[in-house]
Amino acid sequence: MAEKTPRHIAIIMDGNGRWAKKRLLPRGAGHRAGMNRMIGLAEHIFDRGVEYCTLFALSTENLSRPKEELDGLFSLFRDYFPANTERLKRKGIALRVIGDRSLLPEDIVALIAEGEAYTAGGTRGTLALAIGYGGRQDILAAVNEAVRRGREVDAEEFSAMLSTREMPEPDLLIRTGKELRISNFLLWQAAYSELYFTDVLFPDFSDKELDKAIEAYGKRERRYGKL
Ligand code: IPE
Ligand code: IPE
Ligand code: MG
Repeated sequence: MAEKTPRHIAIIMDGNGRWAKKRLLPRGAGHRAGMNRMIGLAEHIFDRGVEYCTLFALSTENLSRPKEELDGLFSLFRDYFPANTERLKRKGIALRVIGDRSLLPEDIVALIAEGEAYTAGGTRGTLALAIGYGGRQDILAAVNEAVRRGREVDAEEFSAMLSTREMPEPDLLIRTGKELRISNFLLWQAAYSELYFTDVLFPDFSDKELDKAIEAYGKRERRYGKL
C-alpha cells in the first residue's frame, strides 16, 4: 500500500524566467516572484506533516549564467534570507544548505552559516536548500572521500558521505516548469523517488498544486524492484 504523506519532498523549482517572460518582465522579476513563493510553499509542506523538504534553488551549472543574473539572484538572497530564516525558526524548522559553498560569494556563505546556526534546534522538520549544488559533484566528493579512507565502502556508508547524510531519501520529487528532466539534482538519492512533473511555472506553484502532487503520490505503488 502507498504511504499517504511523503516524509521527504524534493522540488526542482524551475520556470522563473519563463514566468517573467510571459509578463514581459526582466528575468530578475521572475526570480523575485519565485523567492516570494518559496518560503510560503515550504511552510505549507511542513504543515502537511512532511518532515524533510529539499529545494533546488541553484545548480552548479546555473553558476555559469551571466554575471548580471547571478548578481540579481544573490542580491535577492541577501534581501530575503534573514526574514525567511526568522519564519523557519518560529515554525521549528531547521535550515540546512547543501552545495559547494566555495562557489558562492563570501557574504552569502556567512549568511548561510548564521541561518543554519540560528535554526539548528528546530525539531519540526528540516528544510534543505540546494545552492551551488550538483548531484554528480555530490557523488564525486563522496567517491573522493572513500578514496581518502583507502578502502571500499557499501551503499550505506556511501550515502552517509553525501551532503544529504542527515536526511532520508526523497519520497516525492517534483519538478515545476514543464521540463522532463532531473538536471543534475539528487542523482543517487532519487533512485526510488516517485517523480511528479507539472507545467506550472514555479512562481505559480500554489499550495493547491502541491496538494495535487501529494495526492498523486498517495496513489502510487512503490515496489522498489520487488513483486
Ligand atoms: C529556475 O528558474 C531557477 C534557477 C535555475 C535559478 P529558471 O531561471 O531556470 O527559469 P526558466 O527555466 O528560464 O524559466
Ligand atoms: C534546474 O533548472 C535547476 C534549478 C531549478 C535550480 P535549470 O533551468 O537549470 O535546468 P535546465 O537547464 O532546463 O536543464
Ligand atoms: Mg530553467
